[in-house]
Amino acid sequence: MSKDKRDKKNEYNIILTGFMGTGKTAVGTELALRLERKFVDTDHIIEIETGMSIREIFEKYGEEYFRERESEAAAKLLTYPQGEIIAATGGGIILRKENRLLLRKAGMVILLTASLPEILNRIGGCAGRPLLDQEHPLKKISAMQKEREPYYREHNYCFDTTGKTVNRVCDEIIEKLELY
Ligand code: S3P
Repeated sequence: MSKDKRDKKNEYNIILTGFMGTGKTAVGTELALRLERKFVDTDHIIEIETGMSIREIFEKYGEEYFRERESEAAAKLLTYPQGEIIAATGGGIILRKENRLLLRKAGMVILLTASLPEILNRIGGCAGRPLLDQEHPLKKISAMQKEREPYYREHNYCFDTTGKTVNRVCDEIIEKLELY
């Protein structure tokens, strides 16, 4: 590939979206290492800005307050120059239209997916996921996925992470987007 083409493919920020447990943070961290970019996570931005854990925010102030902070974190992604970051986003960030527009402006939006059994396996005890503190987390997950499905579909690229290692998913993304 010519140098010009390589530079063009590399000039975008990469924004990872997807349901909880689809591997956004793990894949984003590894991708940032391999592409020598900064890794940014909207949940982490929120925790830094508020001085509280995601769980604490939900418990003390509720979901609406969290979603407000999440929109601010989405806007913050636009402050990074293109080509500088790999960002992981909270699974519900796509619920607000304003956020979906912000993410599209912030970079190339990549959707990560995984099968339901794999999601359940990965999120285990739900420790950091207050929305799944339920008697029937499976029912809740199905309802949330149904509601979010049309929004998740507004991506540039989609990668299924089911049964794959983090490195394999990174290989696939690098190959498909020609990020070498
Ligand atoms: C949420 C997903 C979480 C976190 C919060 C709400 C959601 O992030 O933002 O608990 O609504 O799906 P992860 O997708 O990184 O688990």
